[in-house]
Amino acid sequence: AAARASSPAPSSGSHRFSSVIHRIAEEMNTLDDHGTPADYIPMLADADPRRFGMAVAEPDGTVYGVGDWRQPFSTQSISKVFALALALSLDGGQLWRGVGREPSGNPFNSLVQLEYENGIPRNPFINAGALVVTDRLQALTGDAAGQVRDLLRTESGNAAIDFVPQVAASEAAFGDRNAALAHFMASYGNITLPVPALLAAYFRQCSIEASCADLALAAGFLARGGVRADGSALLTRSQAKQVNAVMLTCGTYDAAGEFAYRVGLPGKSGVGGGIIAIVPGVCTLCVWSPGLDKRGNSVAGVSALDRFTTLTGLSVF
Ligand code: DON
Repeated sequence: AAARASSPAPSSGSHRFSSVIHRIAEEMNTLDDHGTPADYIPMLADADPRRFGMAVAEPDGTVYGVGDWRQPFSTQSISKVFALALALSLDGGQLWRGVGREPSGNPFNSLVQLEYENGIPRNPFINAGALVVTDRLQALTGDAAGQVRDLLRTESGNAAIDFVPQVAASEAAFGDRNAALAHFMASYGNITLPVPALLAAYFRQCSIEASCADLALAAGFLARGGVRADGSALLTRSQAKQVNAVMLTCGTYDAAGEFAYRVGLPGKSGVGGGIIAIVPGVCTLCVWSPGLDKRGNSVAGVSALDRFTTLTGLSVF
């Protein structure tokens, strides 16, 4: 059952998982290797890999955390979860004609499956699939990135969440691979926008900065069966299950099997070093630490979530 707090949240202290996350933060300090920040987006390369934050949001909107849990960071691929939820809520599943729901077993930016699978990406979280989602969301709303930002603002209650144009520009300057993916899918008729417009929307969406506190709150609808912070439905219960299922199987790319094995929760990583994870009915988690492993997932982030489910006994299994 969900924990319900009867009074406004202080930043730490008496909450259900406070002592667990403080213990985890201490453990993360002693990791031998924190990994390396993403360097293909030069704006992200200088981050200190030892920084660490972790936030817990409960279904009633209580949020608390440890370390750098209020520090904004680049959401990058975490934004793909919110784009997917918006596209599903607006098109009711038409989206699945152009993108699959199978783990790819390949790196997030791989091109190799696209040709022999006729321009249909395996899932909405690898870059190719996320480009299809942003394309559809742009067609449905005229402003995919703005819709994602506004959803994050509304659900977190933080109106300061915004794009970082320098990060988007920094990624665009090294965007040949994403451009290749988009052009290739366009050749199969699986992209509707002109490729440059799609890339601009996708890089803007990825450049949104938010903190662990913001993202844990914003993902709350996935722990509440699709219900938004104001009590209205963003997704049906079944659609919320679908998004969580795709996060579990595809949210950490070619490490999704290992993530399910170690953590046992739906999760989505980004190369900014953040990871969100959902404990349906109980809470949402967000961890941030900018050092990444070879597959683009935060080293301390995965480790902290692994410790969280081990210490609490919570998981979807
Ligand atoms: O498309 C890219 O390369 C980035 N904007 C997002 C990639 C990302 O976050 C992959 N995640 N681990």
